[in-house]
Amino acid sequence: MSYEEGLRRKDLLGIQQLGVDEIYAILDTARNMKQVMESGNKRTAYLAGKSVVTLFYENSTRTRASFDFAAKYLGASAGALSSSGSSTAKGESLLDTAITIDRMATDFLILRHQVSGSPHYLAPRVRASVINAGDGCNEHPTQALLDLYTMRDRLGRLHGLRVAIIGDISHSRVARSNLWALQKLGCDVRFAGPGTMMPRFIEQTGVTRCRSVEEAADGADVVMGLRIQLERQAAGLFPSVPEYVRYYSITDEVLAHAAPHALIMHPGPTNHGVEMETSIVEHERSVIHEQVTNGVAVRMAVLYLLNLARNRRQRGARSA
Ligand code: CP
Repeated sequence: MSYEEGLRRKDLLGIQQLGVDEIYAILDTARNMKQVMESGNKRTAYLAGKSVVTLFYENSTRTRASFDFAAKYLGASAGALSSSGSSTAKGESLLDTAITIDRMATDFLILRHQVSGSPHYLAPRVRASVINAGDGCNEHPTQALLDLYTMRDRLGRLHGLRVAIIGDISHSRVARSNLWALQKLGCDVRFAGPGTMMPRFIEQTGVTRCRSVEEAADGADVVMGLRIQLERQAAGLFPSVPEYVRYYSITDEVLAHAAPHALIMHPGPTNHGVEMETSIVEHERSVIHEQVTNGVAVRMAVLYLLNLARNRRQRGARSA
């Protein structure tokens, strides 16, 4: 592989900081990583001798497991910590926990935390490369990258795509990372959702705020649902689940407004019967399960390219 200049940074904190060339380097590298995944022998030595630790303060299935598999497929040692089983439960701070893991000669620290900006706070304070696996409502960069990978893989391009994102935009780090990524790559992004789940002044980002799901889906190449955070129902963000379903669920009728080739996407986990029925999750145009597979390839690419950047920095430091 030859992506020596692929990433120009120690950490992957968000899509906002990435250049377009860096995004394409990740997507191109992920294509090679997917071939590794599909080969008879998934174990490579690209990260042999390196260590990867996932530090998750929020629940996860896809992100955590895929980083774990990505590290193992690259030949690294992988460890995992969560807030419930660690000394966080005894009151240890995020910074003390991160420094403790860092001092075990960790090369990559994958952080998911409920507070926006947590990975940005840790990154300059540890030697390990920090990868943001979701920080509060801010960003989920590797989710957006795997979404881009899936769109490009299926539709053959990114520039000029019309992408409808539907649901709880306000609380969604997936929506934010996708917005920054899709806009950088020249896509037309449309949001639809209840007014109480739509950030104020969102139009100032250049996104089109639609009054209905049908308007958002009109001519779309991609229709993406977001998880409705039912745990936030107590906050009264929408009157009831049946009313949400009536106005915002992705149905066959909604899809009829989209382009005939439109992809159905969802970052997962999905509330079946809320964001979409099971028949839409399993629809012939749904790529939701492919997104999961592509997530491993994209995370392998991120680890691989950040490792090259680490090696370059270490060589530079030695020769200085
Ligand atoms: N899409 C996503 O981040 O899923 P998990 O919460 O299962 O990691």
